[in-house]
Amino acid sequence: MREQSDPGYCYSLLARDAADQVEKHVPLQGRTVVDIGGGSGYFTEEFRRRGAQSYLFEPDTRELGKQPPDGTVVADGYLLPLADGVADVAFSSNVLEHVDDPATFLSEMVRITRPGGLIYVSFTNWYSPWGGHEWAPWHYLGADRAVARYRRRTGRAAKHTLGENLFAIHIGPTLRQVRARDDVSVVSARSRYWPFLAETVAKVPGLREFATWNLLLILRRCP
Ligand SMILES: C[S@@+](CC[C@H](N)C(=O)[O-])C[C@H]1O[C@@H](n2cnc3c(N)ncnc32)[C@H](O)[C@@H]1O
Repeated sequence: MREQSDPGYCYSLLARDAADQVEKHVPLQGRTVVDIGGGSGYFTEEFRRRGAQSYLFEPDTRELGKQPPDGTVVADGYLLPLADGVADVAFSSNVLEHVDDPATFLSEMVRITRPGGLIYVSFTNWYSPWGGHEWAPWHYLGADRAVARYRRRTGRAAKHTLGENLFAIHIGPTLRQVRARDDVSVVSARSRYWPFLAETVAKVPGLREFATWNLLLILRRCP
C-alpha cells in the first residue's frame, strides 16, 4: 500500500523477504547472484548485505535511479553479457510479465546458472487482482478501458501498455512450460506473498489464476 508514497520502505521490505526466500534453499554468503531486471537495485543491495557477490543487470536506465549499485550493467535479460553457468543464483523479481517472450527470458536465466544452481523467478499473472499494475483491478474489464480510466482519474498517462511493456501471462501455461523443460527441476511453485497455503493455492487450476496474486517459482538447474 505504501509503494507510491514510500518506495524505499516498500522495496527494502520486499528485498528482505525475497532474500529470506532464497536463503530457504541456499545460503547467500559467498554466492554469486545475478539480479536481472532489478530496477534500482534494492534486491542486489540486500544480497550484498548478506555476503553475496551480487550484480544488477537492468536494461532501462530510467529504472536505475540516481545511485545504482556499483558494477551495475545496462543489459537486456534476453542476452546477458555473461558466460554459461557463472551464477549460483539467477534472480528475477516481477520481470516476466514485462517481456513478450518469457520462455526465451527464462532460457537465458537457465544458461547463466551453474548446474545445481538456483533460479528464482516471480511474476504477477494477468488475472491476479494486481495483474493490471497501476490500472488494476480495472483490467478485469479490459486493458483499454482500464488505461483510459487511469488517465481520466489521475490526469497522467499510464506507465504500462498491454502488449508493449506489460503482457498477459498465466500460471497454468507457465507451469506446464517449465515442467516440460529438461534443464531445470521445479523445487517450489507458490504464491510469493501469501503467508499460508502458498503452495496449495498455486495447485488449483482456475482458482490459482485469481488467488495466487504473484507466482514464485524456485527452479534448480539440472546437472
Ligand atoms: C516491475 S519492474 C521490477 C523491478 C524489480 N525487479 C522489482 O521486483 O521491484 C520490471 C523491471 O523489468 C525490467 N525489464 C523489462 N524488460 C526486461 C528485459 N528484457 N530484460 C531485463 N529486464 C527487463 C524493467 O526495466 C524493470 O526494471
